[in-house]
Amino acid sequence: RRGSPLAVGYGDGEMYLGSDAIALAPFTDRVAYLEEGDWVEIRRAGAVVHDETDAVVTRPITVVSASAFQVDRGNYRHFMSKEIHEQPEVIGHTLAHYLDLSAGTVRLPAEPSFDWKSLSRLSIVACGTAYYAGLVAKYWFERWARLPVEIDVASEFRYREPPLPENGLAVFVSQSGETADTLASLRYCKAQGQHCAAVVNVTTSTIAREADVIFPTLAGPEIGVASTKAFTCQLSVLASLAVAAGRARGVLTEADEARMVAALGDLPGLVLRTLRLEPQIEKLARDVAKVNDVLYLGRGANYPIALEGALKLKEISYIHAEGYAAGELKHGPIALIDETLPVVVIAPHDALYEKTVSNMQEVAARGGRIVLVTDARGAAENSVATLQTIVMPDMDALVAPIVYALPIQMLAYHTAVFMGTDVDQPRNLAKSVTVE
Ligand code: F6R
Repeated sequence: RRGSPLAVGYGDGEMYLGSDAIALAPFTDRVAYLEEGDWVEIRRAGAVVHDETDAVVTRPITVVSASAFQVDRGNYRHFMSKEIHEQPEVIGHTLAHYLDLSAGTVRLPAEPSFDWKSLSRLSIVACGTAYYAGLVAKYWFERWARLPVEIDVASEFRYREPPLPENGLAVFVSQSGETADTLASLRYCKAQGQHCAAVVNVTTSTIAREADVIFPTLAGPEIGVASTKAFTCQLSVLASLAVAAGRARGVLTEADEARMVAALGDLPGLVLRTLRLEPQIEKLARDVAKVNDVLYLGRGANYPIALEGALKLKEISYIHAEGYAAGELKHGPIALIDETLPVVVIAPHDALYEKTVSNMQEVAARGGRIVLVTDARGAAENSVATLQTIVMPDMDALVAPIVYALPIQMLAYHTAVFMGTDVDQPRNLAKSVTVE
């Protein structure tokens, strides 16, 4: 094993090699994970593992739980659709490990190896969709815990080799836990003496094993290449961590914590209600499937949701899409707007709503076709003509980025279905990016 993950599957009179337990699931549930530099001799009856110095070593055989094998599509046409619809359940399941709803407190599943109070800085490192989850978390940690946050995509972070402060915490967000650049960044941070925490979905992964502390997302196996349920579970975990940090650092009161925990506890129900908007979004996707470009705008903690919306659409429908902070519109992208361009505006009625509406007016004045994703109050107060307004349930602003991820996932999914692309296995993409 060098770089990419490798696991040995133990069968009955037969042995297997694969990248992880999911790949081996059709054959066996008994799996040993090789360490970096290991090599293995395989015979029908068993395997002998050697480490990089050629010494014979033992790598424990794990019996993988049955739930890790729930990898069929059920009644869904695609894994992506199944995974979108699993979100109420997996978010609830994840939060059950982080919150004590009856006490109104956060209760982390792992004792952190650091003290939130004395942390000097938080560095968040990840790639793609996981990076956008981290970008939302930056807003949360800064606001609720007054903790300075730096965030970067792992491929930049690792070569930038930033100076890192004493008593800093680095958080690595990854569904697979095998992303090469994220792993390299973790090793860099460890060498720099940072406390290293991993928010991962695959708890047997390399990133999970090398971190000092793991905060698992309990999304279950994610098969569709486009990340959906892992993203909202990452956000759920990061929100819980940010509340824990805010409390420990004395920024949030007990009452704040109770209110925020209750808001997080509402997530499964809110996500379920949002899924009911699917027929409306499917109809909208018919129009989106006819265009060449789409622009997504958002502000504050919903700005990364605009970025995620654009990424989701481009990776599975191959339609060009860009996400922007709404306030950046007039610094360049406004030049793109004409009557052919759909502009998806993520704007719950929060403290930034008025600002976003003024950006929307600029789009409307140039003939852009607006798709407004807002709540009942946002819809009632808007006087700008829209192609469509998607009315979300009312919710506490702190959970909005999590729930507003749903409409943009469904829009990307249905657009791709209309386009006839391979939704679960889009061209040129891999689920785990184990090479640079
Ligand atoms: C997009 C997507 C990718 C991944 C990225 C990181 O839908 O899935 O952008 O988020 O490749 O992967 P992980 O989370 O496995 O580190």
